[in-house]
Amino acid sequence: MRIAVLVSGRGTNLQAIIDAIESKKLNAEIGIVISDKEKALALERCKRHNIKHKVIKPSDFVNRESFEEALVESLVLEGINLVVLAGFMRVLGEKFVEAFNLRAINIHPAITPAFAGIKAQKKAIEFGALISGCSVHFVSKEVDMGPVIVQACVPIEPSDCEESLSEKILKLEHRCLLQAISWILANRVKVVGRKVLVEGAKYGTLPVNPALEEF
Ligand code: GRF
Repeated sequence: MRIAVLVSGRGTNLQAIIDAIESKKLNAEIGIVISDKEKALALERCKRHNIKHKVIKPSDFVNRESFEEALVESLVLEGINLVVLAGFMRVLGEKFVEAFNLRAINIHPAITPAFAGIKAQKKAIEFGALISGCSVHFVSKEVDMGPVIVQACVPIEPSDCEESLSEKILKLEHRCLLQAISWILANRVKVVGRKVLVEGAKYGTLPVNPALEEF
């Protein structure tokens, strides 16, 4: 199974994928990592681990559609089966979503549909939410709103700030993302409309539902 990872920043989720593959916990190959930012730290991780990577910058294109066309072309050329958006801070539209319908997933640092978009952890704190977490979902046209594969929650304490909450959530992000990839690769994820069922998974557990198995 060849996966692509789309990144924009430091790439700790990417690193979790690399580590899981290298330690043979995840049976996949990273075909390519694509960043929309030249300076993304995630690209340094690719160099360290000898992973093919490339920058596709929106500013090099006349509009979003042509940017997305270039993105899709690169992914198709690499024979990618699953695209993982791991801290990719750009909204992808119709061109991408149609080309990779139910073959692209995203990790979002909140329990969707709450706090969609950027700065989800800050929004949760400012709202006064007492619980937040992360969601791994399929990519759809509505930002952070696609069918949910797995969600994990963390408590928000009075002493929490954006950084401390982000840190707590990030640990679960890594585990949920790896688990979702693994389930998809094992062909256990079925989607009916908005509803996702992971075959054989144990539902009804907290803080992660369905229960993580390998990560
Ligand atoms: C994560 O919190 C992810 O959920 C969000 O951006 C952050 C990326 O972190 N969309 P990293 O680049 O994987 O370290």
